[in-house]
Amino acid sequence: MNDHIVETTIEQPIVLRTPRLVLRRWEAGNELEITEEYQYGRNPKVAEAGGWPSYDDIEECRRYHDVVQARDPECFAIIYKQTGLPIGSIAFKTIPEKTSLALGHDPSRCREVGYWIGEPHWGRGFMPEALEAMLEHGFDTLGLDIVYAKLFQDNSRSRAVLGRCGFTYDHTEYGNVFPQLHRRLDEDALSLAAADWRNRKEQRPLAHRTSTSAYWGADPDTTSRPQC
Ligand SMILES: CC(C)(COP(=O)(O)OP(=O)(O)OC[C@H]1O[C@@H](n2cnc3c(N)ncnc32)[C@H](O)[C@@H]1OP(=O)(O)O)[C@@H](O)C(=O)NCCC(=O)NCCS
Repeated sequence: MNDHIVETTIEQPIVLRTPRLVLRRWEAGNELEITEEYQYGRNPKVAEAGGWPSYDDIEECRRYHDVVQARDPECFAIIYKQTGLPIGSIAFKTIPEKTSLALGHDPSRCREVGYWIGEPHWGRGFMPEALEAMLEHGFDTLGLDIVYAKLFQDNSRSRAVLGRCGFTYDHTEYGNVFPQLHRRLDEDALSLAAADWRNRKEQRPLAHRTSTSAYWGADPDTTSRPQC
């Protein structure tokens, strides 16, 4: 266990690589990204599963992209190497300081992961691949103790992703309020501890491992468009 959690800043060029994907920060003002994100985020099946209404217009998407995502050091665009375009997003969110976690775990040493993939790309194993990279970043680089994920109880796709990455059931939260959706919904929380992730990692074949590179440069494996 690391003594302290590594805090990253948006200036640090962190890039996570997997066989098919590059995870890197969203870029403010990148119109191509905004157009791609809008086409996926206007789909209620993508947005509402994460507790948000779908975008009504591209300006709303642009504001969120530029003001929130592109300024968050723990929010990564998921770029499909084959096209060089973003197909989704994955982020670590901090857990409120006063949250009472099981076994007295310190919320500042834990994160909640949230993610989405555009519907045309569902069912091809992209999110498990991206999540594995994010877990390596969270446990090995940031030094987290536990990563949590919360999902609506009918989200079988997300549950399958989490199960495949080693998460197990932690607890259920009843009647969480989602003001933007004007609804109260029950959520299951799943968790994965650093020690369990390390045990699984040792058992996995090398080919499935991801790599982290602390620079922002050309990716020799990809045909990425330069603006992505
Ligand atoms: C959940 C989500 C991220 C999964 O990403 P993905 O890249 O499609 O993940 P996978 O390819 O591993 O597919 C997930 C599971 O859905 C299953 N699936 C694929 N097509 C399906 C279909 N038509 N109906 C039901 N299940 C289907 C897959 O078989 C897989 O399960 P398996 O691991 O048991 O095979 C994606 O569906 C998504 O973005 N959904 C909307 C946003 C969301 O739910 N975010 C998470 C909030 S908690």
